Amino acid sequence: MHILGIIGSMRKNRNTHILVTRVIHEMQTLAPELESDLVYIADQTIHPCRVVCSTYCATHPYQCATPDDATAILDRMIQADALVIGAPLYFRAPPAQFQAWAERLVSLFFFYESQVQNAVPSPLKGKPCGLVGIAEYSNPHQILEYLHDFCTVLKMRPVLLDTFPYLGVAGQGDVEHDTIFHPFERAKDLAAKLIKELT
Ligand SMILES: Cc1cc2nc3c(=O)[nH]c(=O)nc-3n(C[C@H](O)[C@H](O)[C@H](O)COP(=O)(O)O)c2cc1C
Repeated sequence: MHILGIIGSMRKNRNTHILVTRVIHEMQTLAPELESDLVYIADQTIHPCRVVCSTYCATHPYQCATPDDATAILDRMIQADALVIGAPLYFRAPPAQFQAWAERLVSLFFFYESQVQNAVPSPLKGKPCGLVGIAEYSNPHQILEYLHDFCTVLKMRPVLLDTFPYLGVAGQGDVEHDTIFHPFERAKDLAAKLIKELT
């Protein structure tokens, strides 16, 4: 089984990276045979959706006319058995590069599914997905809601927690010392829930 982590921060080895990899590490502690891999959105070439070419994606299920890395990441998501997706809040929204990528995938799904009757089902249908949201002075729940909506549109299955903040792992400020959201404890909980989904 293969887990794909998607890191939506523009900075490597910082808070988003720490918590996404922590969830994956906890999963591998429970199931050492799990393989994993990371995508750094900051390393990818991703253009915004051009929209004017929407007849292409409306007639080619889950394919895009723009030749960059956005759909290559979709292919990796399809191959994975479960996903862990994390993003931080930058100026009250996810980083622009991450938003461009989310916009591209949401466009693909929206233009195809809204134009076609008996559409080919989403290739991500039911894929278990753990979410990680990071902020500093605002509430990281905002990012979790954004990611939850993104997963829902793509027909993935966001894996929820039984305890606050419910939608996934949240981190505020220095995640190593966050006594409000307890991200490392929640990372353990989320990992256990994801493993349950896979077995
Ligand atoms: C450009 C920039 C904008 C930010 N804007 C916000 C914000 O609007 N609200 C907030 O709570 N934190 C904001 N922060 C703080 C980040 O959410 C915080 O530093 C987080 O750890 C960033 O994730 P990273 O460490 O993975 O890069 C911002 C940080 C940066 C670098």
